[in-house]
Amino acid sequence: MQKPFPSTILYGADYNPEQWPESVWQEDMRLMKVARVNIVTINVFSWALLELAPDEYTFGQLDRIMEMLAEHGIAADLATATATPPTWMSRMYPDMWPVTRDGKRLSYGSRQHYCPNSHDYRRKAGALVRRLAERYREHPALAMWHVNNEYGDHVKACYCDGCAVAFRRWLMARYTWLPELNDAWSTSFWSQRYFDWEDVMPPRLTPAGNNPGQMLDYQRFMSDSLLECYRLEANVLREVTPAIPITTNFIVAFKPVDYFSWARHIDVISFDLYPRNTTPPWENAFRHDLMRSLKNGQPHLVMEQTPGQLNWMEQNPHKRPGRIRLQSLQAVAHGADGVLYFQWRQSQGGAEKFHSAIVPHEGSERGRIFRQAAQPGAELERIAPDVVGSRIRAEVAIVMDWHNWWAVEYLPGPSDRLRYLEQVKRWYAALHGLNVAIDIVAPEHDLSQYRVVIAPLLYMLKAGVAQNLERYVTAGGTLLTTFFSGIVDEHDRVTLGGYPGELRKLLGIYVEEFDPWTEGMSNEVIIADEPLRGKYACDLWGEVVHLEGARALGVFARDYYAHGPALTVNRSGEGRAYYVATQVSDELASKLARMLCQQAGVELLMEVAEGVEVTRRARSDGRKVYFILNHNDSPAPVTLPQGRFTSLLDGLDFSEQLVIAGRDALILLEK
Ligand code: GLA
Ligand code: ZN
Repeated sequence: MQKPFPSTILYGADYNPEQWPESVWQEDMRLMKVARVNIVTINVFSWALLELAPDEYTFGQLDRIMEMLAEHGIAADLATATATPPTWMSRMYPDMWPVTRDGKRLSYGSRQHYCPNSHDYRRKAGALVRRLAERYREHPALAMWHVNNEYGDHVKACYCDGCAVAFRRWLMARYTWLPELNDAWSTSFWSQRYFDWEDVMPPRLTPAGNNPGQMLDYQRFMSDSLLECYRLEANVLREVTPAIPITTNFIVAFKPVDYFSWARHIDVISFDLYPRNTTPPWENAFRHDLMRSLKNGQPHLVMEQTPGQLNWMEQNPHKRPGRIRLQSLQAVAHGADGVLYFQWRQSQGGAEKFHSAIVPHEGSERGRIFRQAAQPGAELERIAPDVVGSRIRAEVAIVMDWHNWWAVEYLPGPSDRLRYLEQVKRWYAALHGLNVAIDIVAPEHDLSQYRVVIAPLLYMLKAGVAQNLERYVTAGGTLLTTFFSGIVDEHDRVTLGGYPGELRKLLGIYVEEFDPWTEGMSNEVIIADEPLRGKYACDLWGEVVHLEGARALGVFARDYYAHGPALTVNRSGEGRAYYVATQVSDELASKLARMLCQQAGVELLMEVAEGVEVTRRARSDGRKVYFILNHNDSPAPVTLPQGRFTSLLDGLDFSEQLVIAGRDALILLEK
């Protein structure tokens, strides 16, 4: 895949000049130069301006925008405009309106008001994209295609009659004949047997809990339906402009869409980063690491972040001074090769008029937001030649699985307090505190490059996953998994013969009972041996665990399973498999993470004060770039690794000791 600019860190914003008279555009160009903008995303919500009536296209305004960008040396991330159909189209095709689970039709007048399985929507979207591609295929401003926008954001699933038909077709391809479907969904239960494909429905609102297999397949089907919409556009773009990279902006760890299955169809992974002011820095780090991992470490892009306040939270405080710069540099520190904002100029009207933008309502470059948003522009320009294309190499991975997420969170019992992403993030936080590089991978991913793999709450084992984990451990890997793992197969049917099912041998344990706790119930884990020796709080979940070859490192302190195993380790081949039978305190999770990394010989980049983050990107010439980010408000001492370093931001030389100011960042190239 060709990169839009081989030695540039992309820097820019969503740009919506159609909201402004053309007299304002020239001022935009001037201000973009001041802010060092080199790319803008345009045309995201312009369908109504491009197709005024059925098949009546007009591209005059977009031509002028593209021309202007080319003239000023600013690249276009050209959106396909399919995220919001024009009003006339919605009126013309009422079947296109999405339907909620409880049967309500969603009208137009906001955005994303289309059913992903609507034939009319797909046909009209495809036709528009072909026209755009053919018109701008040779245009000098065209650098990247931006397909649609945030798939699934507002319509996470549709339950209309058209979707029912498409769902049946999807199921037929997956199950070939009805008895197989009946078996997969366990329809002997509650008189749910299907006698005809026509009887199968989307899991609409029902008197009691829906069939879990049906719910799970519907999530898969919806993620695939949106992917079909994406691919329909991407196929046209690839055919007409094979050299132009294609992206679509993801919404981080977004439950409705299985990004692992999408990634191979996308050239550049990009996503929208909207933390709250209270979001801890490690959580943004997690988001980057997930995005970077989707294409095996290929640099990703932040497609949107806000320079100041948002508009869609209950209250929308501004980002505090210094934070947007740190957030931008953190993106690059975690492997991104571009940072863009939403949006360039703050809208005068519409639902986002109080969402901040680089150019505020006041209109000039004099305010705090403009200056703070523009600062990283100059800095990224300076560091780009030394950083672009360099890679993060991780020795540690966390397993994350969308199918498991869907299944865990549609459980008719045993606990509605299980939040899969929370479990993934807890272990991420524990590892992140050590300043090790972390990949986030699918359970079927080749794990051989990692020394430590943590697979929290892996309730569902799809076919082949247990074998993949076994292969990894026997070859010398260190695996940690946690409570309520190995329970069901890919159809959400319990694996019989004792929990944790297919993992029983690998973990060397048998879980006789799991015991989900109510709010306020808790226990403790007692560990006798160093380096973990001590007593640690635990909550959420307990288990009655029997050893079948594993050793108990920690036991429960109380209750009817007092002295029963809470933390175990089993040797298997050359490696070790750990199991944690409860939700342990942050303190124990951190210590465990450290112990596993040390035992497995994982390189910890630097020991630094809390709140200081260290990452490292390796260049193709072997030289390394260290990113040291102080998320604290106060200065912190840093001891550098052996060697001498040049600061890419200011050219100064450093070695041994230094002090990093509060909310500051250092980017150091090994000499
Ligand atoms: C999303 C959308 C943008 C804009 C921003 C506002 O990310 O993609 O169009 O609405 O939210 O935060
Ligand atoms: Zn539908």
